Amino acid sequence: MDQRQFFSGFYKHSISKRLELMESWLGLSINSADTMLPEAYANQMIENYLFNYHLPLGVAVNLKVNNAKYVVPMAIEEPSVIAAASFGAKLLGNIQAETKERLLIGQIIMTVQQPMAEIQQIIKENKAKLLDIASQASASMVRRGGGPRDIWVEEKEHPNRNYISIYLSLDPCDAMGANVINTVLEALSPTMESIIEGEVLMSILSNYQPQAVTIASAKIPFVHLSNDKDEAISLAERLEMASDYAWLDPYRATTHNKGIMNGIDAVVIATGNDWRAIEAGAHAYAVKDGQYRSLTKWQVNYEDEMLEGSIEIPLQVATVGGTLSSHPTAKLALQMLNITSAKDLSNIIASVGLVQNFAAMRALVSEGIQKGHMRMQARALAMQVGATIKEIPAVVTQLSEAGQMNRDTARKILDEIRK
Ligand code: MEV
Repeated sequence: MDQRQFFSGFYKHSISKRLELMESWLGLSINSADTMLPEAYANQMIENYLFNYHLPLGVAVNLKVNNAKYVVPMAIEEPSVIAAASFGAKLLGNIQAETKERLLIGQIIMTVQQPMAEIQQIIKENKAKLLDIASQASASMVRRGGGPRDIWVEEKEHPNRNYISIYLSLDPCDAMGANVINTVLEALSPTMESIIEGEVLMSILSNYQPQAVTIASAKIPFVHLSNDKDEAISLAERLEMASDYAWLDPYRATTHNKGIMNGIDAVVIATGNDWRAIEAGAHAYAVKDGQYRSLTKWQVNYEDEMLEGSIEIPLQVATVGGTLSSHPTAKLALQMLNITSAKDLSNIIASVGLVQNFAAMRALVSEGIQKGHMRMQARALAMQVGATIKEIPAVVTQLSEAGQMNRDTARKILDEIRK
């Protein structure tokens, strides 16, 4: 079997067969009923609870990260994303991914009357004491090997007032760390007001996380792009151009990154993580040099006859704490990945972003995106006009053959079938 492929033909099986295959792959039994979020629990999670909102959850196959194979749970409503991820993963083969550090940054924002040089000196002199207060406020995190790492201050100029931001970095171990860092910052605020002439405006974590960046990279030999070498080189060059262009133009970079987030969000949601935080952090990172740019880069390596790609993205995800420890689907999703460390999860998620981006760009620079989407779009239209599960296949087949793919045509086809 091709080493770049496993779980081949998974999509062709019935749902029960797919579950059976997953069970034997994971060595655990999966009961779909156990994935439901109990009402009583959901009612504790949010206010004014009514009922649960459902998303389809499927798995992307073929993903290999740091030489380990993963079947990746993805919760998403958009057709083609999982198929594209599985296809991209097959072509990319083993992805090297690394998350060197995973530090969360928070800030205490103050308005101040003192000159900045004096404030710098105060923070320097009190650093040990401040880190001690921070450690006490995060004692259980410190016991697990995490906790506060550094404190520094920066001036933020504004014509009306003098602002400063006192930044704190903290190692949240395998948790997201939002609660713990907010607790630490609030514990530090009164001390800040006692040592600095000024007033605290707010104390809050930042979702800009340049100290929690994951880098994943892949090399695709030309032969995996096409059996015809000239065709492979031409495709690799078009992929490089698509990557260069996304670097240049924020209009394209936004769509390019949206495609990356199709895959990333789906895994983040499936594993019970905070997708708003990941989204905010990713887009802030994309604009870190002042212009919104692509999060991936692709280059042709003519010497080694390969296309090389990489993604660099901050991923403040967790494998413990918050909703993910108690949400039954999130728990199962993490079991499916068979990982416990947040760094491993970050490595997998960044790799999914890379394969997703590759698959989208490959379609865009060759046959175009619509061709692969047609059958999915036909299915969506059939459902929109009210076709039953039994009627969908016939509507899809006729709609795919009809000249026009729209609601009216779908409705007419359904009416004909019902006659
Ligand atoms: C659609 O959800 C995502 C794409 O637009 C991404 C891209 O253009 O790179 C296909």
